[in-house]
Amino acid sequence: MNFKNLKLFLLIISTFILSTLSSPIISKRTNINEIKNLVNTKLFINNNLNNNNKANIEDFIDDLKDVFQNGMVNYIKLEQIFSDLFNITIVDPIENLIDSTNHKTFSVKKDGFYGELFEPENNRFPGKALILCTGSDGDFNMVRSLSKGLSNNGITVLGLGYFKVKGTPNVLTRIPLEYVEKAAKYLKSEGFEKIGMWGFSAGSVYALLSGVYFSDLLSLIVASSPGNYVFQGLGTLSFTQKKSAFSYKGKDIPYEPIGKIDVLKLIYLMIRDLEPNFLHVYEPGVTGASENHFIPVEKMKARLLIFSGEMDHCWPSDKASKAIMKRLKEKNYSYPYEHISCPYGGHVMTPFPTAMDIITKASRDYPEEEKKYRKQHLEKLLEAFEEW
Ligand SMILES: *[C@@H]1O[C@H](CO)[C@@H](O)[C@H](O)[C@H]1NC(C)=O
Ligand SMILES: *[C@@H]1O[C@H](CO)[C@@H](O)[C@H](O)[C@H]1NC(C)=O
Repeated sequence: MNFKNLKLFLLIISTFILSTLSSPIISKRTNINEIKNLVNTKLFINNNLNNNNKANIEDFIDDLKDVFQNGMVNYIKLEQIFSDLFNITIVDPIENLIDSTNHKTFSVKKDGFYGELFEPENNRFPGKALILCTGSDGDFNMVRSLSKGLSNNGITVLGLGYFKVKGTPNVLTRIPLEYVEKAAKYLKSEGFEKIGMWGFSAGSVYALLSGVYFSDLLSLIVASSPGNYVFQGLGTLSFTQKKSAFSYKGKDIPYEPIGKIDVLKLIYLMIRDLEPNFLHVYEPGVTGASENHFIPVEKMKARLLIFSGEMDHCWPSDKASKAIMKRLKEKNYSYPYEHISCPYGGHVMTPFPTAMDIITKASRDYPEEEKKYRKQHLEKLLEAFEEW
């Protein structure tokens, strides 16, 4: 990874981003020509990128459209595009350390859930374990690298895959809460008395819902960049056959239907800021969802930790976090709960660096702050484990 080049490039990019910021976000529907102009002037010509790229603007826009297929962000594809733009190689910082042969694995067929158990060499918290899941990209490598990072710090972690892995749905739609139930029951049967769940982004909604449905099993919930309501299932069929993102006992968990997605606007914003931006899609629900679509967090019987970044543009996690806090306060929630809001934080609020960091502007622009947040995240988590 060449930081010098990256910095120079980002400097150039941000200069042009600043000039675009002065023009307000188009109020009319974005059209394809605006995007072409933006791509032309802001990315390819002004940045003196390889001349061949000019001929490929159409392909580039098609690639971006693919990234936003059906309301899903294809993060793998996005990372690819970004790595081309930034000329950097994305290397997962922790994954390389994972020895895949020496931990127990679980399958939906045999165990009722898909996962891998990361047992620490020096177990600092005997009798306590954490189920961990990540977000809407469904990349199990992120689960593995975060799980490994936490187990290196003495925590027993069961990394859970809830879609796009063997035996699970291939899109984030009707994900059974039973995976978590089965995983928690397994840990119980292995003698763990206290079981928690850490979830990131869409996975935080999964974790919060699990905290509600299995309040007698889960006594610590960590929600990183959370949502506060149940969202509509994402993926291929979701717009013709409306379904919830999550289910229990074969039934949809009531969800807030998604509003109209302006794909061209998404692409425009993405090129302008070089990060996915779904704020206009998810913001209305944070305060405006039907009452029965909000996650009834007060039904949990768990200590709660929430992390969010004020610069998260992927979805409105900071506002959602505040809404969760407000709700718990109003309901006189009797377990400890805390929200750590990070002013320069983006979407990827995790205790360790991840391959996904590069796709958010905050992570690129404020690397020192992000480092600080990650350290704080880990410390808070360890502190919660001590007190729990
Ligand atoms: C991309 O980075 C590599 C290695 O740092 C360098 O050799 C190459 O010239 C760069 N390409 C461009 C187009 O800047
Ligand atoms: C919360 O506590 C306050 C003060 O004791 C009380 O007035 C209020 O009714 C309680 N709210 C709920 C939802 O229990």
